[in-house]
Amino acid sequence: MSHNAVTDDFYETIKPRLHRRIGREVRVAHRVLDLGCGSCGLVRYLADACKQQVTGVDITSDSFPSRRHTSNGSRYHCLKHDAASLGFAEDGSADAVVTVWALHEMAKPKAILQEAYRVLRSGGEVLVVDFPRGSLAQRLWNEKYFRPPQVKALLEGEGFEQVQVRLIEQGQVMWARGYRPLANQT
Ligand SMILES: C[S@@+](CC[C@H](N)C(=O)[O-])C[C@H]1O[C@@H](n2cnc3c(N)ncnc32)[C@H](O)[C@@H]1O
Repeated sequence: MSHNAVTDDFYETIKPRLHRRIGREVRVAHRVLDLGCGSCGLVRYLADACKQQVTGVDITSDSFPSRRHTSNGSRYHCLKHDAASLGFAEDGSADAVVTVWALHEMAKPKAILQEAYRVLRSGGEVLVVDFPRGSLAQRLWNEKYFRPPQVKALLEGEGFEQVQVRLIEQGQVMWARGYRPLANQT
């Protein structure tokens, strides 16, 4: 994988495009959860541009915008919460769960995907977007990143089906999707 074509601000540069792509991916979802939402940028984008009802969850509220911006009526809100235990969310209460540039940072990725499965409705989509091992992120921040087959195994291990994992954005971003099986198939 070559880093020649990308500059150090690559991830910041592609963020708006990535948000639009995520919006298209989960466009049929009404209720969306964003796990590890950081500064709630995607949460607000999906709520404003895609008119979805979005809940962002992050283990720290350090990056949240000021309090008056963390809620837009019933359209979106951002909660300080560990994504490994989403006690506030009922079984089957989300149409899509997304997690962006966060799974590698989460102490219990299996528990987080298990929770994603629980809160998704039958047929709902999980979308994991992360930095793949060996990408530009490795050079910039050198954290422990997953390889695509590891994310595929994690998703399938939690029961998701039709799992597809691929690299996008010049190989610098991993894009993994799966679906909670339809109720009559479980
Ligand atoms: C690299 S940031 C990505 C933030 C945002 N998704 C984005 O696209 O900019 C990773 C985020 O995951 C959050 N995080 C890590 N472990 C978590 C957990 N167990 N539950 C919820 N959020 C967590 C961190 O606090 C951090 O805000």
